[in-house]
Amino acid sequence: MNKRQEIEKLKARMRSDKHLPFAKSAKQLVFGEGSLNPEIYILGEAPGRMEDEIGRPFVGRSGKLLRALIQNAGFLEKNVYITSVVRFRPPHNKTPNPGEVAAYEKYVDEELKIIQPKVIVTVGAVSLKKFTKEPISQIHGMPRRAEWLGHKFNLVPMFHPAAALRNPNIRRLLEADFKKLKKMLN
Ligand code: URA
Repeated sequence: MNKRQEIEKLKARMRSDKHLPFAKSAKQLVFGEGSLNPEIYILGEAPGRMEDEIGRPFVGRSGKLLRALIQNAGFLEKNVYITSVVRFRPPHNKTPNPGEVAAYEKYVDEELKIIQPKVIVTVGAVSLKKFTKEPISQIHGMPRRAEWLGHKFNLVPMFHPAAALRNPNIRRLLEADFKKLKKMLN
């Protein structure tokens, strides 16, 4: 099986897993999208209303900002993979609790095993927590070597674009972190 076939199989399994938190209240699964040999793999928190309607990750207000930041930094969207830890929309966009996040972990791990990204960009605290307990405010934009399930990669913690929409200072930091990352990869 090639990567695309493996990812499609994983997606189908998630879609039919009725035990996943929010699977019953959400309209549809919001799986990842993009290159399966990505320059960067972006991991967010959970789908919101627009994502739930359309069935694609990061297509609402914060998604538009994220995609603009990616492009402005010089990345091509087709070379990026975008997803979130939680793949069904939490009701009223509540922050998923640790137990709810944990229920999705095995699928995220399988996805990482298939894609084997060289660079993982976590946006926001929920996805960062998977790899480190350090606070985002202290380590954002600083790449570090990390290992997860035997796979080695560069971890780059970043703020969530929703936080950047609320706070212009965070927005400037997020813009700078994306530009710095592109320079580093070049
Ligand atoms: N925020 C996320 O973390 N993921 C999405 O898909 C949309 C908004």
